[in-house]
Amino acid sequence: MYWDSYSHKEIKSVVFDALQSNLDYRHKAVLGLPASFLDTEVFYHDAPFLKDAPFLSAMIANPNHIGCHTLNESEAAFEGTQKIEADLIDICAKQIFGGKDESYDGYVASGGTEANIQAIWVLKRYFEKEFEAKPSEICLVYTEDAHYSMPKGASLLSLDSLVLNVDKESRQITSTAIEQFEEAKNNGKKHFIIVLNMGTTMFGSVDDIDPITQWADELGLNYKIHIDGAFGGYIYPFSDPNSKLTFNHPKINSFTLDGHKMLQSPYGTGIYLTRKGFIEYALTEEANYVKGKDFTLVGSRSGANAIAVWMIMRTYGSEGWKMKIKKLLEKTNRLCDQLSDMGIEYYRNPSMNIVTIKSNYVDPNIAKDYMLVPDTHDENPNWFKIVVMDHVTQGQLDRFLMEITPTVSA
Ligand SMILES: Cc1ncc(COP(=O)(O)O)c(C=O)c1O
Repeated sequence: MYWDSYSHKEIKSVVFDALQSNLDYRHKAVLGLPASFLDTEVFYHDAPFLKDAPFLSAMIANPNHIGCHTLNESEAAFEGTQKIEADLIDICAKQIFGGKDESYDGYVASGGTEANIQAIWVLKRYFEKEFEAKPSEICLVYTEDAHYSMPKGASLLSLDSLVLNVDKESRQITSTAIEQFEEAKNNGKKHFIIVLNMGTTMFGSVDDIDPITQWADELGLNYKIHIDGAFGGYIYPFSDPNSKLTFNHPKINSFTLDGHKMLQSPYGTGIYLTRKGFIEYALTEEANYVKGKDFTLVGSRSGANAIAVWMIMRTYGSEGWKMKIKKLLEKTNRLCDQLSDMGIEYYRNPSMNIVTIKSNYVDPNIAKDYMLVPDTHDENPNWFKIVVMDHVTQGQLDRFLMEITPTVSA
């Protein structure tokens, strides 16, 4: 896992060169596109700070990254910045998830939700095309701790869902999955899209892939796996060097990553990554006005967003990013040690920065004050979670612990 860190000067040079080689609405007669730079009344081009601000300059130039730029052909007008997106996808697929050269495709999606739905859509079309499957024969499988983008995707794509049970303490999939799979098989399901979590929203739990593939293989299921790393994708591969959730696992077909969570990039920076040869299942033939056609769910999308994610990853480099994750995990360890000393029960995956505390240890008013997120906004939540993000200071954590002490001792 390695990618170089660039200085601000190098980043500026790459981004401004890319913008230069994009279509410039000011210098060329552009008569056919329903698009332009950002409105100059509000976003004026000659603001002096722009020469030092590659992301804001990209926002104002407003390149459209419609389509998929790891494929051979795409919209030529914005080729310069699309190459930056291709470099970003390359780093994510190869350095974070162990993909081999030229063995993946991907794009910057609107968020984790879109990336997950794109993954489900691609695999649905794969089963339909390659196995002449009817939608009623395809089953979308995910755990009860999975993000709600899975039921959303099932609803949009008219797929039946199979929701696997998890153990209430370990948050791992229980062996009842075998009976659940068997029942689905008996009910006519022949093909399975299995979504596993690399960091669930509420617990940060990471699904163990081995029992799932073992059970699915024993039952002779036809299945492919998508990994939802929307939250954990920028942490777990860095904190657990033995992660099995990589492209080296033959059953894993795709990943979701989300820049706008751990990476602190602007909203609109989900990332979808898949093995080469699969994104084509999402081809919309009718996208005739788009050069290279369209393989994505979204259509037009901001090139500046892809640049923002690339800039963050290139500023840190792999070593800087590992260091940042190490520090966040150390802060999380310290919080967990203190909770344990106080006899407070919580769930935490040791490679993640989410700590989910049993609700009886936290006064609801304190939870509200510190903006802890409950597992449900109904009257009686079972859990409150803390996410140790960059902005969470040691002082805030200490104060929180002092405030919950009376509840614990009572
Ligand atoms: C595990 C997981 N997957 C997917 C998503 C959806 O991401 P987004 O809000 O970017 O669509 C989230 C959001 O919290 C998440 O935690």
